[in-house]
Amino acid sequence: MFSIFPDAASIAECVSATLIEKIERKPEAVLGLATGGTMEPVYASFVARARERRLDVSRLTSFNLDEYVGLDGEHPKSYSAYMRHHLFRHLRFDRSRLHLPDGLAPDLEAHSREYSDRLRQCGDADLQLLGVGGNGHIGFNEPGTPFDSRCRVVELSERTRLDNSRFFEGNAMVPTLAITMGMVEIMQAREILLIATGEAKAPIVAEWYRNEVTQAIPFTILKRHPRARVLVDEAAASLLPDSVRYSPTALSA
Ligand code: F6R
Repeated sequence: MFSIFPDAASIAECVSATLIEKIERKPEAVLGLATGGTMEPVYASFVARARERRLDVSRLTSFNLDEYVGLDGEHPKSYSAYMRHHLFRHLRFDRSRLHLPDGLAPDLEAHSREYSDRLRQCGDADLQLLGVGGNGHIGFNEPGTPFDSRCRVVELSERTRLDNSRFFEGNAMVPTLAITMGMVEIMQAREILLIATGEAKAPIVAEWYRNEVTQAIPFTILKRHPRARVLVDEAAASLLPDSVRYSPTALSA
């Protein structure tokens, strides 16, 4: 369930190859999608391969993990804009099958429930892509999130707002609330690929390795999923014990 790759580019190649293979086998697959810096090379690689192979993506359904509250889909920092920019505009998706939470929904709680129900009706994700926050969050499920949490509105931690301020003009511009899929929707996916790249993720990857499943480090929950893989590059693996770094298969059991 754990693999170390030389760099982010080789993880992107591996994940995009997995995506292509899944979609060729099941063109009507349901994908759970993430945003953030980690996913950019993944989508770039996927778009290039999909074009090369003239992959039919028109029957795919997707559900994004999260969206900021208060930003409309046209806002350049919204996750909706991110998805259009990095993925959706490049291939012939059926837009009606692409789902993102609506950060401007008049009743955010009702909208969150509907989003969760819609995912269920579509049969849950065949494959869920995840990045991980520097504090171990997945989606925007911050440390301490109960494992039975569902799609809902959450307050972003100061750490997350600071980490994400690199995408905004300063920390004060980062929204304080978001809608996120909960731990339940994430764990319902049939297969999960979590990617952690870069030195900044090394401390939390080492914590993940050292700890049993704990709500204090949300992505430890993946240790309970029968088909979850954690893919890290050498930089993100740099604080793991040498015995693991030089023999990653030690963790595969
Ligand atoms: C994004 C998401 C977040 C990010 C995480 C890592 O949709 O759900 O959990 O995956 O914050 O972000 P980056 O990749 O920017 O380090």
